[in-house]
Amino acid sequence: MAEATFHFPKDFLWGTATAAHQVEGNSTNNDWWAWEQADDARPKSGLACDWWNRAEEDIERMAALHTNAHRLSIEWSRIEPSPAIWDYDAIDRYRTILTAMRRAGIQPMVTLHHFSNPMWVAEQGGWLNPDVVEWFKRFVAKTVAELVDLCDTWCTINEPNVYASEGYILAHWPPGHANINESLQVLFHMLQAHAAAYETIHDMQPSAQVGLAIHMALWEPWSASFLNRWAARRLDHAFNGVTLEALKDGRWRPPIGRKIEEPKFKNTLDWIGLNYYQRYEAFFDLRAPTRLFLSYRTRPGHETGPAHWGEIYPEGLFLLLQRLYRQFGLPIYITENGRPDEHDTKRPRFILEHLHQVWRAVSFNWPVRGYYFWSLLDNFEWAEGYDPRFRFGLYAHDRETQSRTLRKSGELYAEIAETGGLSSDMARRYAPEVLETLFPGSVRG
Ligand code: FCB
Repeated sequence: MAEATFHFPKDFLWGTATAAHQVEGNSTNNDWWAWEQADDARPKSGLACDWWNRAEEDIERMAALHTNAHRLSIEWSRIEPSPAIWDYDAIDRYRTILTAMRRAGIQPMVTLHHFSNPMWVAEQGGWLNPDVVEWFKRFVAKTVAELVDLCDTWCTINEPNVYASEGYILAHWPPGHANINESLQVLFHMLQAHAAAYETIHDMQPSAQVGLAIHMALWEPWSASFLNRWAARRLDHAFNGVTLEALKDGRWRPPIGRKIEEPKFKNTLDWIGLNYYQRYEAFFDLRAPTRLFLSYRTRPGHETGPAHWGEIYPEGLFLLLQRLYRQFGLPIYITENGRPDEHDTKRPRFILEHLHQVWRAVSFNWPVRGYYFWSLLDNFEWAEGYDPRFRFGLYAHDRETQSRTLRKSGELYAEIAETGGLSSDMARRYAPEVLETLFPGSVRG
């Protein structure tokens, strides 16, 4: 018997999230696939989770978890393998998947762009080419026309800020460029494409709920010094703020280059999606003139993920929800949240601590409507590929056998979704070390 429970609203969406290229397998006609093959040292997505053939089984797993929502993405290169040439078998496959989801009581959220592009788009300059806005719009119009009876919650573009920095500043992802100006151009085109998609979808489906997922990190100053606070503000603005301001006010204010008004960006959200993973400490760095004197680190002694993952900081989720609520006043979905954890020793605690912060936000009546855990199952983690340290799933995935095995964290998430809340009893069974912090006073003497 639980002594204390944090209840969520009855209609709260408990979901999981995946993305096409990371799970479907054999997405041979997109730029990520080409990038993987171009260098022996790069990880290859290969068959991934074979979702293209096995989605139905995984939908049963969603139902077994008692979840009622799933965020998936549609692979552009499958639907439109050549310009304006539509692959009806692929469209049918997505129709079958969405139908199965709805039958299982899982409300789909469909993302229309999640990092990968058809080869024909990449070959013509990808998101650097201004024509991409029209190409994307044509793809969106076709996809929505074909799926309109099966989905009404659309996420136009996943993490334009991450896409623009990984591919065009850090050179970790295709096309592997390192050029801030290009990165800003790409971001601008993505926001234009988002605005065009918003309008197109609403023309076709007036009841649609359309939004976009932004990846927000929490940037805080290393110390209270003026310069470090300046550095935190600059990094926050470059990574989070430019996109948010553009969508809110139609003001394009990049860290370098011309500032302009782009009124078309305004009023193009019915909801906003937050992908939250990390916190960083920013500092002014005299040794980094090429990075505009901006550097960041993680707090020594605090919990981080593997490699350069950053600090894992549950309260950051609350703070960013507060910011989005204040800035937009719109319904919010947590479109991604999760952690890499090979052996699932930390994920159960992660889930409890982060959902506790979501519950705080919900208790202030901020319009947080749903939570999509990243991810349903281990999958292809982009540049990290299948590095075991970067396993994110509630289900462990074995690539040799394609088998899936429910983890402890999956059992916990299932209990949360089934009961619509977090209880002290769950904390006691899954992560007793946080019982006293999450449920103070609940420990019997
Ligand atoms: C996000 C991506 C998602 C996944 C997680 C771990 O930035 O949107 O595809 O890779 O990180």
